[in-house]
Amino acid sequence: MTGTLTGVGLGPGDPKLVTMAGVEALQNADTVYAPVSVTTEGEGFAEKILSAYVAPERVVRLPFALRGPEREESWRDAARVVAEPLRDGGRLAFATIGDPNTYSTFTYLAREVADLVPGAAVDTVPGVTAASLLASRAGTVLCEHDEPLTIVPATAGEDVLDRALAGEGTVVIYKGGRHFDRLAEKIEATGRVREIAFGTRLGTEGESVSKSLPQGREHYLSTVIVRLKENGAHG
Ligand SMILES: C[S@@+](CC[C@H](N)C(=O)[O-])C[C@H]1O[C@@H](n2cnc3c(N)ncnc32)[C@H](O)[C@@H]1O
Repeated sequence: MTGTLTGVGLGPGDPKLVTMAGVEALQNADTVYAPVSVTTEGEGFAEKILSAYVAPERVVRLPFALRGPEREESWRDAARVVAEPLRDGGRLAFATIGDPNTYSTFTYLAREVADLVPGAAVDTVPGVTAASLLASRAGTVLCEHDEPLTIVPATAGEDVLDRALAGEGTVVIYKGGRHFDRLAEKIEATGRVREIAFGTRLGTEGESVSKSLPQGREHYLSTVIVRLKENGAHG
């Protein structure tokens, strides 16, 4: 009997935003895995949230590279670590920031694991996204009526960003950290900004929320909501 691997969404930072289903999955797991960036010294972000619910000796850290060829290699290494107890029928939880089905390392890990342990059960417990928390903190809405909601990573390149900003409704931008000078210009250039919300390190002690965009480099944990005026409505 192979085991179960559950991707558990921890929400964006505040332990109070982990769902009850998430806490239950973490507490029932034989082992809880936590992704840690290879550049992180000391406690990782997911580990910090986890510490509210799981004793540190039940947490196994999995190092992940954010960029370069090491990135995919780290998913494969992590999958090999997880595959072993999974083959033995383990009940495993992988903790991930925000929601496990939204730009999460869990998706890549789960794919690798499915190749290594065919037949293993893989599922997820949804989590509060950074975009939801930012809308709440900034007192805005993500979308209403017939408006579309588009989520783009700033790392996706000019074309993807330009297409999103040429559209309608609301654009949420993730992974903006190193791209804010360029982003601020691009967003201004639309001439169609109805409202902006910017949030960094949401749900943590260092949280900051504003209604304008930063000009320079920002923390990796930064999110922007741009509500656009209708196409054709300039000024
Ligand atoms: C790899 S994605 C993870 C997204 C996450 N799975 C979610 O559902 O929100 C990382 C990006 O999520 C956003 N993010 C995650 N946590 C955040 C936080 N506490 N404050 C602001 N942005 C956050 C940032 O845009 C960051 O670059």
